[in-house]
Amino acid sequence: ADSQEMARAMARQVVRVAAGQEKADIIFINTCTVRQHAEDRAFSFVGTLKDWKMRDPNRLLIISGCAAERTKDELRRRFPYVDLVMGAKSIEKFPEIIAEALKEKFSWAKENEGMWEKEEKTNRAASAFVTTMRGCNYTCAYCIVPFVRGREVYRPLDTILEEVRERLIEGAKEIVLLGQTVNSYHHANGQSCNFADLLKAVGGIAGVERLRFMSPHPHYIDDKLIEAMAATPAVCEHIHLPIQSGSNRILSLMRRNYTRELYAGIAQRLRSAIPGISITTDIIVGFPSETEAEFEETLNFIQEISFDGAYCFKFSPRDATEAANHEGQLPQSLKEERLSRLLALTDNLGRAKAKSQIGRKVKVLWETHGEGRTRNNWIVRPLEPAQISPGFTNQVTIEAVKNRLLLGRLSLE
Ligand code: 5AD
Ligand code: SF4
Repeated sequence: ADSQEMARAMARQVVRVAAGQEKADIIFINTCTVRQHAEDRAFSFVGTLKDWKMRDPNRLLIISGCAAERTKDELRRRFPYVDLVMGAKSIEKFPEIIAEALKEKFSWAKENEGMWEKEEKTNRAASAFVTTMRGCNYTCAYCIVPFVRGREVYRPLDTILEEVRERLIEGAKEIVLLGQTVNSYHHANGQSCNFADLLKAVGGIAGVERLRFMSPHPHYIDDKLIEAMAATPAVCEHIHLPIQSGSNRILSLMRRNYTRELYAGIAQRLRSAIPGISITTDIIVGFPSETEAEFEETLNFIQEISFDGAYCFKFSPRDATEAANHEGQLPQSLKEERLSRLLALTDNLGRAKAKSQIGRKVKVLWETHGEGRTRNNWIVRPLEPAQISPGFTNQVTIEAVKNRLLLGRLSLE
């Protein structure tokens, strides 16, 4: 979402997408630092761009995002040829920073200043992200996000609704509300508004066919929110609700502020209020001091809830976080072994869940010319070549599956 926002700001400065790296005057890298692996990949890419920059010093190399925020000085030292390092905390100021940098560097940016506002390249994606808040007030023991993004700042309701309307004008049919703990949203500007109110307000805008949100925190799921989800037709029958671990001791070490029993209760309430809702989650294995028995609690919790999907991660110690300094760091090999056992389980479950969709007639919103999504978040492709257009919806009968992918036949009504 941040990348899209930055791309829009660039488009306002007459920047267009180049036909490949060699043709580009500007390379912009937006980075993630949530796990070490993400950061390593970004930096090794920056390393490969040295030649590109050296061949034409007039080129502009920009690095932004959370890894840039975390390692500003190191980045400048390791890659002195980078022109601009913009940490995640300055994202709101990004349009001005980029406008300045372009003016300094490129004469055309000066010449064209102010001329192109209306020409903003539209992004015709069927599904659009809308940021509702930035930062996080939690302090999960493993997580670097609060350090690099700061504390929660909520965007005013009017600003959010206005942005939703802009995305609809550009062609979006689905809106995905985004925040680190998206459901802690509250805004008291004249009238008070919490996340349930926000959902209803966005869901009430004509043209919002589908509404999703990411990622909620279990602590802020109450009956009012579940009611709002059930009562707002646009809200899709899917929730991505991170659990992280199935062991109460580990959850408490993680400072997650809920137990597995509380989570199971939420899942049950969601399922009875919203029939057919699919529930997906995030899981971390190999948190410091996690025992074999505690890891098995996670495995059996996945079966107990019968998740429709899970993103699974090995614990990655992040600098300055509480968990990085915990006793009992586990060896890499053990983390890997647990991850592969977890993946075997979630893959099997996912395949079984996918198979259970065979024979169903579902509404698919096409996101590309070859692929779309059901309301409960399954990815669907046509079984046979078919005329499909992004942004359009078809009734599809699911006839086969390929792993987690559903293959279906378009209905002709
Ligand atoms: N190690 C492994 N996974 C992590 N996540 C966040 N921090 C870490 C870490 N230090 C995972 C969590 C979160 C997702 C976005 O990334 O599961 O929900
Ligand atoms: Fe990180 Fe926890 Fe905040 Fe999520 S809720 S961003 S895991 S600190």
